[in-house]
Amino acid sequence: MNPVPSPGRAAVITGLGGWVPPRVVTNDDLAQVLDTSDEWIRSRTGIRSRHVVDPGTATAALAVEAGGLALKSAGGVDVDSVIVATTTPERLCPATAPLVASRLGLTGVAAHDVSAVCTGFLYGLADAVGQIVAGIAKRVLLIGAEAFTTIIDPADRHTAVIFGDGAGAVVLRAGEAGEHGAIGPIVLGSDGGLADLITIPAGGSQQRSTGRPAPPEEHFFRMRGREVYRHAVERVTDAARSALNRAGWAPADVGRFIPHQANARICDTVADDLGIAPERRASNIERVGNTAAASIPLLMADEAAAGSLAAGDRVLLAAFGGGATWGAATLTWPLLPAPALQ
Ligand code: UT7
Repeated sequence: MNPVPSPGRAAVITGLGGWVPPRVVTNDDLAQVLDTSDEWIRSRTGIRSRHVVDPGTATAALAVEAGGLALKSAGGVDVDSVIVATTTPERLCPATAPLVASRLGLTGVAAHDVSAVCTGFLYGLADAVGQIVAGIAKRVLLIGAEAFTTIIDPADRHTAVIFGDGAGAVVLRAGEAGEHGAIGPIVLGSDGGLADLITIPAGGSQQRSTGRPAPPEEHFFRMRGREVYRHAVERVTDAARSALNRAGWAPADVGRFIPHQANARICDTVADDLGIAPERRASNIERVGNTAAASIPLLMADEAAAGSLAAGDRVLLAAFGGGATWGAATLTWPLLPAPALQ
């Protein structure tokens, strides 16, 4: 699927917010309960710490915090549609977005979830652009939110050291392609043949259709990291090149590369392959780890809070996730009515 907004009409970012739960878990904390070390985690992933929800806190609470901040940053506007991209919905059924909308005082609006694991925010962005450009919605609140640590096996050192919790959100409105904050070409892809690389084996219809309860460990997230790494570098680089080509931008035009924070080495390899200079690469993985569908909007909110971008700067987003899914998008940095909050 490659939705390109028709010339003239565009979805424009008009609000931005990010939120992480207060509890911080450091690499040293993890090394006390797992056979791992701060040195291994830092050198292999770039992560030093991550934020983790307390028991009893699930995805909607994070989504409401980030969504509320994004709405405030947009100047307190109303939206017609709420999209939540998440790997950790509150329940298998119903979707999390209607609950989040209602807690934000938005009962009655369209609301649905997007399930594309770490690429979820980019798939959600395509949905939001589609709704706006087709005239279905005037304003959309798009949230990437994850209580990812709730699906992690605390005894699995391959995944427990990587993932963290958080949420990021953008408000998009109908506008023109030349405006600051306009979303440009979006490139998306998938390969279901790689479904087993990133998976929670149990809990869905496939396992339930057997009529036998699954062993508890099959309800945890599993990732074949080394294979994911290889596919991620290849697919994200290709998708990013393709989005740049469609936008008519050279890599040197990119003011900020804002990739999904999967692993600092993956992000650097992709940026090296694309020819994006180190000072143009945004990163917050050291502080928040891999927050899956929340990663890109959380990093956008961090960039806004740091004031590192001027309105109109050219931005490239890119991600790889379970499915397998991948994608990239271009945009120009928005002029926000109120400072982005976190
Ligand atoms: O978010 C979207 C999708 N996810 C990703 O993009 C993640 C992609 N993959 C990765 O980021 C990396 O593959 C990991 C960070 C998950 C792992 O790094 P790696 O450099 O690929 O390590 P590895 O899995 O090849 O493991 C190397 C060694 C192994 O030991 P042996 O078997 O070679 O003796 C592992 O058992 O490191 C061992 N190891 C650990 N050691 C200490 C694995 N995890 C740990 C750990 N602490 N936490």
